[in-house]
Amino acid sequence: MLVWAIANQKGGVGKTTTSLCLARNLAESGVRVLLVDLDPHASLTRAFGVPTAPPPAGTHDIFSGPDAPMGSLARSTAIDGLRLVAAQPALATLERRGATQPGLGLALGRAL
Ligand SMILES: Nc1ncnc2c1ncn2[C@@H]1O[C@H](COP(=O)(O)OP(=O)(O)OP(=O)(O)O)[C@@H](O)[C@H]1O
Ligand SMILES: [Mg+2]
Repeated sequence: MLVWAIANQKGGVGKTTTSLCLARNLAESGVRVLLVDLDPHASLTRAFGVPTAPPPAGTHDIFSGPDAPMGSLARSTAIDGLRLVAAQPALATLERRGATQPGLGLALGRAL
């Protein structure tokens, strides 16, 4: 499994567009792709038509318990071979929690 992180502190620089285009092109070339939306604003999640209110099951759940059910959090999309773990607004609390909760930053790697 190859993991790519598309991240940048600056807003509006194309993170969501790059993630979506890369994922779609990879899936259409026959690669199995899992998109994990970690942005509390959930633009990528909304791009797939997943309603964000009430919050869907998603990436924040990965950080909420020791046994993240990644398999059940990943949902199918309209694109064959492309699945999505939706973002939740509670992701905005992670940076603060990370200061007092050792190991929190390792949860995603473990879940993958
Ligand atoms: N390669 C590109 N060429 C031209 N416009 C682009 C390109 N990539 C993205 N854009 C446009 O730039 C704007 C910002 O893109 P996008 O939403 O992907 O950025 P972002 O980094 O995810 O933003 P945010 O910080 O708000 O999450 C959008 O209007 C998008 O259509
Ligand atoms: Mg974005």
